[in-house]
Amino acid sequence: MPTIKFEGKGSAAPKIAEAPEGGALLDICDKVLAPIAFSCRSASCGTCHIEVLEGAELLEDIDDDEEDLLDLLDGPSNSRLACQAEVKPGEGLIHIRALGS
Ligand code: FES
Repeated sequence: MPTIKFEGKGSAAPKIAEAPEGGALLDICDKVLAPIAFSCRSASCGTCHIEVLEGAELLEDIDDDEEDLLDLLDGPSNSRLACQAEVKPGEGLIHIRALGS
């Protein structure tokens, strides 16, 4: 099952979540109170901008809406939107760090 390690922007200890079925990263964040901030939840604001430090292959591909905003945010090439990313079912570690406000 994918294990997801969330790092917020501060110095708090990372949060770990198990996501046996995969699914919306947003729902997983809500479930475990991950230290990732959200606002619009619809690929409009960039608040949930994250960097995927490990396990990017365990996320579904970026769709057009997410890609449009990521282009505007001009972040690192491994960045995603936590409100849009979908976790694939399977094994492995996804390590995420918050970039947004
Ligand atoms: S919460 Fe606004 S883009 Fe994700």
